Amino acid sequence: MRMGRHLLSLCVLAAFGCGDDDGDEPADMAVEVDMGPRDYEPDPFEPTDATRAYCPAGEVDAIEARITEILRTLSVEEKVSLMHGERVALVDGVWRVEGNERVALPGLGMLDGPRGLSSFTGKTGTAFPVAILRGAAWDPALEERVGAAMGRELASAGANVLLAPTINLVSHPRWGRSQETYSEDTHHMGAMGVAFIRGVQSEGVMASAKHYAANNIDDTRHEVDVQIDERTLREVYLPQFRRAVRDAQVASVMSAYNSINGDWADQNTHLLRDILKGEWEFQGFVESDWLLGTHGGGESVRAGLDIEMPARNRFRSVPGEVERGELDESFLDDAVRRIARAQLCYELGPHEPTDDASARETPEHLALAREVARRGIVLLHNVTVGDELALPLDPTETVVLTGPLAEVDNIGDEGSSSVIASDVVNALEGLGAVGDVTLVADPGSDPDAVSGADAVVVVVGLVAEDEGEASVGAGDRDSLALPAEHVALIAEVTALSDRVIVVLEGSGPLLVDGLLDDIEGLVWAGYPGSRGGEALADVLYGDHAPSGRLPVSWPMAEADLPPFDNVSDSVTYGYLHGYRHLAAEGTEPLFPFGFGLSYTRFSYEAIRVGATDIGEGESVTVEVDVTNEGDVDAFTTVQLYVAMPESEVMRAPYDLRAFATVEVAAGATVTATMALQARDLAYWDDGWTLEPGDVLLQAGPSSAERPLEATLTVR
Ligand code: BGC
Repeated sequence: MRMGRHLLSLCVLAAFGCGDDDGDEPADMAVEVDMGPRDYEPDPFEPTDATRAYCPAGEVDAIEARITEILRTLSVEEKVSLMHGERVALVDGVWRVEGNERVALPGLGMLDGPRGLSSFTGKTGTAFPVAILRGAAWDPALEERVGAAMGRELASAGANVLLAPTINLVSHPRWGRSQETYSEDTHHMGAMGVAFIRGVQSEGVMASAKHYAANNIDDTRHEVDVQIDERTLREVYLPQFRRAVRDAQVASVMSAYNSINGDWADQNTHLLRDILKGEWEFQGFVESDWLLGTHGGGESVRAGLDIEMPARNRFRSVPGEVERGELDESFLDDAVRRIARAQLCYELGPHEPTDDASARETPEHLALAREVARRGIVLLHNVTVGDELALPLDPTETVVLTGPLAEVDNIGDEGSSSVIASDVVNALEGLGAVGDVTLVADPGSDPDAVSGADAVVVVVGLVAEDEGEASVGAGDRDSLALPAEHVALIAEVTALSDRVIVVLEGSGPLLVDGLLDDIEGLVWAGYPGSRGGEALADVLYGDHAPSGRLPVSWPMAEADLPPFDNVSDSVTYGYLHGYRHLAAEGTEPLFPFGFGLSYTRFSYEAIRVGATDIGEGESVTVEVDVTNEGDVDAFTTVQLYVAMPESEVMRAPYDLRAFATVEVAAGATVTATMALQARDLAYWDDGWTLEPGDVLLQAGPSSAERPLEATLTVR
């Protein structure tokens, strides 16, 4: 049902054919040219260190030589036939990119996406918590396990390219797809993205880092031009993509729909050729975003786009352009080398439709979904009622559960990242399995039940109708407000009970400042996935001491953030957003980036820096001792920020540059160890400049609390 709607809307949008027979017919501009095999000798390719890192050790030379041989035997038309999806609709359950039997290239099979196996398959799979909630766990090792599990579920459906991670920043929380990504922060995003990619690729499945680049608005994503200065691009919007390439050898990158400084992302020579394939030495392939993401034939290929998805439309013109001498064949060779390299380095076998449902929603994957959800759920507010804190609840206490989302399987939007989970544990099921819970749908109709309960839990927030991918669903949020009827419901309940716990679902920031005086507990649960209700019970009943830390700043008012413009055709992205903007303006957030409470107290005691100075290419170890002062075991996330008040250029007041999440037993002290890289201290000015002078290191449990300080000198 959902899949049908999606494809229909995409077909209408793109004027593509969607029937069984016309999937790869062009919408226009067919140039039919007879291109038989030709006498042809491609340039020899010298493997680089980057090629060696991408491919299994020891096989690089043989594979590159084989590709050179393949290129020699392929006609122009055969090359182009490797460079586009087969049709708009899925073929054998995946978006196919054809191979070539004669040269034993099996082709590729792609599927979304960032929270599990794509619903477009019609198959069920584990709904992992959305990436923004996984981001709140601040635990790359855990995220690597999620990537591996998602890779296994994807492979079970016959695909070998997973269209994730989304590593576009939440530059404004109204962005409809902010649930699909990890954070507002470049460094945090890079760490989480790298971990996910490593996990996926450890299963022999390719990851695709998307959407390159500056894709942070949804309603206008197909037409908006993002104006961005080079420094902002290099320091804020690109570093996480660089890490995906350099640290995780991501196999593919998806170009964005929008244009950047006047050039569409798929035709942006600066982004694709100069930076991605040039400076970063990316060895994988670039595929376009779907249907409207390819803006030309030769022009896109020349700029560095390797594959048009999901079907051949613009690329119909490519053979003719080569034939007429308008496009040099070496551009096809570059694209085909990358596409072939992916297939050979990943040792893909002949394509066979596969569907192994037993590999999906396994007990292990569902347990992981629960684990990562409880690790990500953030406790925002917990005040004393009588002489006890409002949370945790005790299973013997009577709890009234209410709110429009109490019984909803709220796992995220209906866009390309949607998943069909066969069995979702919602809040009622999760809490009801642990405690003495009564659902009261309308508190006004049963005031005695509400006022007589030991506590009231109200589940409110956002659903797919409020936010998501625009061409398939709600698009960007209209505001950061909590729906008025949810506010009214909370007021009704607080009039009846003096222990009200509000659970907020949705991608993140909601303007709830006005509620805090009246409620006793507040929790943000994101879209918590297949086992969300169990994870919520783990946290509310104290089986798990809350460990999530906000990956996005929650402002007091929307006016505290830079403006969000999702109507104009041209927007300018500034250097500061999120906590960096709030700090520069001296504006207090409602809840700061990196913030989250627990059921214990931690003291941050000592910071040790492994060296007094740092130079180009170096990294320094920073250790922080943390003691769990309470009586429950818990995780804490040590965050390391850097400040350069003496810098000659404008800097953010402080920037996250490292973090470590550690589990600390009650009463114990542990040392969190982090690595600070010199390159993360540099600024961009027509090249990276590592500025000599003192850097202030500040460590603590959130961006607003950085009690430990040390100085490091840049030589
Ligand atoms: C989205 C991509 C997605 C693709 C395929 C596009 O609309 O922007 O993120 O991978 O569809 O579903």
